[in-house]
Amino acid sequence: MTAINAVADLAIEGDIAILTLNSPPVNALSAAVRTGILDGVELAIADSNVKGIVLICAGKTFIAGADITEFGKPPVGPALADVQAAIEGSPKPVVAAIHGTALGGGLEVALVCHYRVAARSAKCGLPEVNLGLLPGAGGTQRLPRIVGPAKALDMVTSGAHIGAAAAAEMGLFDLVTDDAALRADAIAFVKQVNAEQRPLRKVRDLNEKVEAARGKPELFADFRRANARKFRGFDAPEYNIRCIEAAVNLPFDEGMKVERKLFLALMNGTQSAAQRYYFFASRQVWNLPDVPADTPTIDVKKVGIIGAGTMGGGIAMNLLNAGVPVVIVETAQEALDRGMRTIRANYDNTASKGRITAADVDKRMALLTPTLELGQLADADLVIEAVYENMDVKKDIFGKLDKIVKRGAILATNTSALDVNEIAAATSRPESVIGLHFFSPANVMKLLEVVRGDKTSKPVIRTSMELARKIGKIAALVGVCPGFVGNRMLAQRQREAQKLVLEGALPWDIDRVLYNFGFPMGPFAMSDLAGLDLGWIREKSSSATLREILCEMDRRGQKTGAGYYDYDDKRNAIPSPVVEQIIRDFAARKGMTSRVVSEQEILERCVYTMINEGAKILEEGKAIRASDIDVVWVNGYGWPVYRGGPMFYADTIGLDKVLAAMKNFEATLGADFKPARLLEDLVAQGRKFGDLK
Ligand code: 3HC
Repeated sequence: MTAINAVADLAIEGDIAILTLNSPPVNALSAAVRTGILDGVELAIADSNVKGIVLICAGKTFIAGADITEFGKPPVGPALADVQAAIEGSPKPVVAAIHGTALGGGLEVALVCHYRVAARSAKCGLPEVNLGLLPGAGGTQRLPRIVGPAKALDMVTSGAHIGAAAAAEMGLFDLVTDDAALRADAIAFVKQVNAEQRPLRKVRDLNEKVEAARGKPELFADFRRANARKFRGFDAPEYNIRCIEAAVNLPFDEGMKVERKLFLALMNGTQSAAQRYYFFASRQVWNLPDVPADTPTIDVKKVGIIGAGTMGGGIAMNLLNAGVPVVIVETAQEALDRGMRTIRANYDNTASKGRITAADVDKRMALLTPTLELGQLADADLVIEAVYENMDVKKDIFGKLDKIVKRGAILATNTSALDVNEIAAATSRPESVIGLHFFSPANVMKLLEVVRGDKTSKPVIRTSMELARKIGKIAALVGVCPGFVGNRMLAQRQREAQKLVLEGALPWDIDRVLYNFGFPMGPFAMSDLAGLDLGWIREKSSSATLREILCEMDRRGQKTGAGYYDYDDKRNAIPSPVVEQIIRDFAARKGMTSRVVSEQEILERCVYTMINEGAKILEEGKAIRASDIDVVWVNGYGWPVYRGGPMFYADTIGLDKVLAAMKNFEATLGADFKPARLLEDLVAQGRKFGDLK
């Protein structure tokens, strides 16, 4: 065995050279890995005893892509294109032996090998689109030459990971073998290629599938139309599509030029910078400085959920999906039955779409025990309270749980805004109490705010984070404050939206600005969807706010066919002249005169106030890092990932600009715009949120 460098070895077995890469954690194509491949392949080619080459990886995966940490830095080491040219041009067959995931540049390296052998559990894909990029090492030109343009369009714009069997069916893998036999079978494969004198197949020369699609522009037009909603606001999907178009319409080398040009355009743009930032941000959240990964955890074998409403049911489904038994408690049989029926119906619906089997539904339902007895939770390892937002009710429940549930169990509240410390104080074991703020619908939304009370123990925190990971959530650890991170910042935007309406902007103006910014919908459309009567009490309603007036008129949102908007029978929102008049009258009663509000003002008042609140949250230590706040906003509130998150966005446009606007608003509109101390300090120091350690 010859060490090529620190991350690559070359072993000669008989007449086959085995080039092994070993660069944890994911064998990304760093300068060292590129050098290792290039030197290894050249050495093997130069060795006259060698008749074929196997490229294989040590550790948990084949090459998972370019090294993202190198992006944006000056290039060092050999270019990936030169490494690929050496492989593709090798006069001896090169076979990629793939396990784990061959992703991005990793698959692109495999695609310049003459053949590909994969372990049964392996997956492959071109996920660059998720980083705001496109496959920049020939992937967009080679992939359609194997799988055809239609499948290539799907793969490059979704970034989906394809299993070995499906990949083999599409022609991406030439052989799929048992995981344990991968190395031996790849060696056998290359020997067979030699024995049968099979050609050194170069994907770049396979033109049949792309030529067949030539002169059929409707393929691309249809694809764009079908996905317009999904791709809205993103640059990368469109650029990926253009590359596949180039693969179909141009000779290989010309197509490569288009790919290069569009790749660089994306790489140098703000969207990819934001999406790459988000990639690391979403991995940072698990890193808790004072609660390290080796903190002891509590074995969660049984979970109790109090409340079988929308929230409780959704939370239960997360746990059942992960195979965790759940006891769900209600106070009345009718509510319990309704909750159980909803869960069952949700599962049946998923099964009817073919996403799970009927057997899966039965298995999950069998893990769920309904009861009216709180006493059934005595041996639960975790209890999650999911009743409505009322401090007295919650305190009463926690007082009871304290007497019933075994010591050492975690007692969690799903409150979205209440003081977790006060709830914890209702027990004799505040160290066991934590907030687990799921977002609605809880079985769908990815985000979990894990709310750490003043006395919450480290094992309780670590266990909650690990549980979140197990049930497929992305969690952010936050501190106790009204609304925690997400809703606290949202409150700023809501307040400004309501004020703007009284000043002269109409709900649809505000919604349009935020929609165009990239949110899935604006605050008023959102209110209509959620129902304006959430927390509204008819008896206490006195036409004191717009919302009260609308509710009193039975304009309670989409469900009543009208809210801030009118709705047609297809639930399309239509600006309402009635509401416009109500707003004008209401504003007049308040002594407000209507003025023209610019789109820029709408955006700045809704978004900068959120950023400012984020700064206060950081200042108070209620979030660990700015990027955690961004993860909350991307996953819980539909912040467009191509803008990174509110804090990253602020860094991108310049904190000085945000501060100047806040000061301006403060001077004209008052204290709601008082800049956070941290924002002032960072601007004074010429630093960014991203510079905070
Ligand atoms: N470059 C640098 N670091 C990477 C990386 C990459 N391509 N992929 C993963 N890592 C790092 C992660 O940041 C993480 O680091 P940490 O431990 O310090 O937090 C570590 O590797 C492990 O990653 P995960 O926590 O994500 O581990 P999982 O086992 O959950 O997932 C994976 C493994 C499926 C490979 C996942 O990491 C992944 O999807 N990686 C990104 C793949 C990708 O996007 N590839 C395309 C890159 S762009 C490209 O190739 C351009 C080319 O076309 C020219």
